[in-house]
Amino acid sequence: MSLAVLEPAPADLALAGADALAAAVAGDVSRSSAVLTETLTYLRLLSDHAKFIRNGFDQTQEALFREGDALAQAHDRLRARFARLPEPLPPALVAEFARAALPLVRALIQFKDRVAALIDLCLTQQTLPAPFVRHLRREADFFVGTLNHLSGLPVPQTATLDLRGPAGRTPTVARALLGSVPVADALAAGLAYAEFWGKHHEEHAEALMIFLRPEQRREIAAAGRFRREFRELRDRAAALQQAFSRPEFDSLSRDALTLTGDWRSFLVQANTAQRACALQANFPQRLSEHIRIETDILTEAIARTQLRLAGQAQPAGIGLGAVYTGLTPKEILLS
Ligand SMILES: [Fe+2]
Ligand SMILES: [Fe+2]
Repeated sequence: MSLAVLEPAPADLALAGADALAAAVAGDVSRSSAVLTETLTYLRLLSDHAKFIRNGFDQTQEALFREGDALAQAHDRLRARFARLPEPLPPALVAEFARAALPLVRALIQFKDRVAALIDLCLTQQTLPAPFVRHLRREADFFVGTLNHLSGLPVPQTATLDLRGPAGRTPTVARALLGSVPVADALAAGLAYAEFWGKHHEEHAEALMIFLRPEQRREIAAAGRFRREFRELRDRAAALQQAFSRPEFDSLSRDALTLTGDWRSFLVQANTAQRACALQANFPQRLSEHIRIETDILTEAIARTQLRLAGQAQPAGIGLGAVYTGLTPKEILLS
């Protein structure tokens, strides 16, 4: 695949759905802020994904390495083009940003699917297991789902996200909009966040258990505990989607915030130790920082859902145009 194909040329912007997205944010500062926040967050995460996959190929897999590298570079060029524009941004510029991102995100989703299939068939060698490559793909699917939701387009199938909640579609709502959707929608979206990101943090903990070194027993044991507790959390979220109980939802929300906060502290400590060379394991410091960004996604979604249920105003910071409102400091997302 050549770089020319990956660059968001004007023709790429004519994707199905791009006009719906532009119409959804036109003149709407809340929606365009939501799109800006999600796009800045996920482009950082997706650039990391392309590099994690690229760096995991066997040295004989030059073509796949270069394809992963081209995708990573294309994501980084787009990030550089839009990320440092001064806020507030006109909604039309936010729409252009998301429309330019969509072809890249689609290309990366297809690449992840292909790499996972090649690993399954033993046609390539890769340090990441195939299920973890599909884990990376599902995070891109979740992002596309949030853009589709606010564009009035279909949200992802439950099966696409590998969830056990009610069969059908998963309500993927941008975090910043959780305060303005109807209460029933906020509840459903909050449960979807808890199930999806609970499962993903379970898988993150499992990945770290693979990458830690045998003598790092304390860290391996801690990761094992987080894996078990996130599995319980996502099981509870899946069960609540079948039989809802408000007290149980409130208890799940409190537990999710505590567990995610503890996991985030563990990741920040690990990342600090990695940067100081006090911890050397078989994963880069970028991975511990990456997962820490993914803890902020879950924390913010749960906290905003709680505020919605309590009928409290959301922290907005909305001015004349779109502004970034995510929990992760913007400079981390831009790095
Ligand atoms: Fe990720
Ligand atoms: Fe992840």
